[in-house]
Amino acid sequence: MNQNAWSRVDEYFAGLFALNEEIFEQVQENCSAAGLPAISVAPCQGMFLQILARSCKAQRILEIGTLGGYSGIWLANGLDAEGELITIEYEPEHARVARKNFELAGLSQKVTVINDDAKAALAELIAKAVEPFDLIFIDADKPGYFDYLQLSLKLARKGTLIVADNVVRSGEVANPDTVDEKVIGVRKFCQALADNKMLKTTALQTVGNKGYDGFSISMVG
Ligand code: SAH
Ligand code: DHB
Ligand code: MG
Repeated sequence: MNQNAWSRVDEYFAGLFALNEEIFEQVQENCSAAGLPAISVAPCQGMFLQILARSCKAQRILEIGTLGGYSGIWLANGLDAEGELITIEYEPEHARVARKNFELAGLSQKVTVINDDAKAALAELIAKAVEPFDLIFIDADKPGYFDYLQLSLKLARKGTLIVADNVVRSGEVANPDTVDEKVIGVRKFCQALADNKMLKTTALQTVGNKGYDGFSISMVG
């Protein structure tokens, strides 16, 4: 098995399940036209996130790492009526493109893009004592994942789902001698998930358009 086969199957399923609607093509075009890196989740993964949101009847979703809003659109379209997505993005240009894309998707009313460093933005949400989130998707800088978990737990309740992207990194996560700062960050995050008695956690490896990676999925309580 190789990348060609993974991509071909990913495209087959995305086509079969109609996961490449016009709006998503436009959103990805806006991202590439603005020079954003092509590191959003894949269509099949976007629908996976949306199904998780629908399964927990999410009213409030928090995303850490917006990029151009691609995963955010999948998540926001999984919100219950009256629900909201708060998504945090450090880069002003990414936040600008994301706001434009949420507008294009007709989701501006439901989505707030916070243009700030994630740690600062999360600390502010905690200080404001906002309602807990039903689903939290962690997908920003990998060295920050450990801190994002600690802060996310303060914005969660019993039953909250905490999902993180990129926990496999082509298999490097299982290499204790890695010198890659991103993998070191992910390993520290996974160890923290394991050490937390309040969490039920699994991780699923994925292959496809985005290579070989995976998600961790944890439930609080
Ligand atoms: N969730 C997106 C992809 C996110 S890529 C999708 O699937 O469509 C990771 C994003 O995290 C990038 O846009 C990057 O600018 C942002 N990021 C990196 N460090 C950050 C930080 N400290 N605070 C907030 N966002 C950060
Ligand atoms: C990177 C970040 C991501 O969120 C992703 O899905 C793939 C790659 C990166 O920073 O390299
Ligand atoms: Mg990612």
